[in-house]
Amino acid sequence: MLHKLAELEESAARAIEGAKNSKELGELRVRYLGKKGALTALLRRMGELPPEQRPRAGKRANALRSKLERLLEQGEERLREAAAASRVEEERIDVTLPGAPFNPGQKHPLTLVLEEITAIFTGLGFQVARGPEIESDYYNFEALNLPPDHPARDMHDSFYFTDQILLRTHTSPVQIRTMELKAPALPVRIIAPGKVYRRDDDATHSPMFHQVEGLAVDRGVTFADLKGTLLAFVQEMFDRGQSIRLRPSFFPFTEPSAEVDIACIICRGKGCRVCGHSGWLEILGCGMVHPRVLEVSGYDPEDVTGFAFGMGVERIAMLKYGIDDLRLLFSNDLRFLRQFR
Ligand code: PHE
Repeated sequence: MLHKLAELEESAARAIEGAKNSKELGELRVRYLGKKGALTALLRRMGELPPEQRPRAGKRANALRSKLERLLEQGEERLREAAAASRVEEERIDVTLPGAPFNPGQKHPLTLVLEEITAIFTGLGFQVARGPEIESDYYNFEALNLPPDHPARDMHDSFYFTDQILLRTHTSPVQIRTMELKAPALPVRIIAPGKVYRRDDDATHSPMFHQVEGLAVDRGVTFADLKGTLLAFVQEMFDRGQSIRLRPSFFPFTEPSAEVDIACIICRGKGCRVCGHSGWLEILGCGMVHPRVLEVSGYDPEDVTGFAFGMGVERIAMLKYGIDDLRLLFSNDLRFLRQFR
């Protein structure tokens, strides 16, 4: 019996030593210590021994049981440590390796143009103002001299939430909001960049696009100030030699009103396909703030005058970069977007 126990001790110790994972250890535990295990079987045969040998053999068997328990425990510990060590090895960082390449990305062409427009006007003394994209009928139309039945509202076929709430169709409501806040303080000199929404969708119209509104109110502001400001802007934005042309136009919130063209970027005024052989490209609408608009916003039209303009940012970006389809700006094609720095 003692001999068998010694044999068992040796083979079990070797097996536990060689176990490669805790599943194997579990199997060994069953094989030696389980109900049908080798040690258990030996213990059962204890009764076959002569009585005087039983105490010694029993002691020995119990000692072996404890020893095997301990070895299994140590085996588990050994496996845990080995696993931890190999994880450390795997995750080890070699700080001398070159870094993983990473693409810093770049700004969208519209963002670049918006930033440039903003920089030019802030340089001219304008501050940036903002208004909500979800706007009320009052600010989007009514305060701008577009009463409910005004035919000019047709051009602004819009996205309505209710009769009174809509996605703004232009940035002009920021004119009203700004003046309401500031009146009667002078001067007012702001630009209002932002998103606007109209129910249009084709190669030259997107249902969402960007405008930059401009507004200057003070004593003695004239149409010449408007024209000089716009010329300065255009020459900064495009080319020092760039010229502009003002054509009489109509907006309910400015009087008189004009549309502003720049000499065609492509043919420099000679006439080409891009400018429809006219030599000119339209870039914005503008005019002198209508006296009624000043009045509803808290300014005395007998005392102050103002000019306002609104330009389409996509239009400017297309002209500046020679982009021929508006939809490229919104299709998120990296081959297109990567070209702008
Ligand atoms: N809000 C006008 C438009 O969207 C542009 C404009 C702004 C015209 C300011 C005159 C003055 O078409």
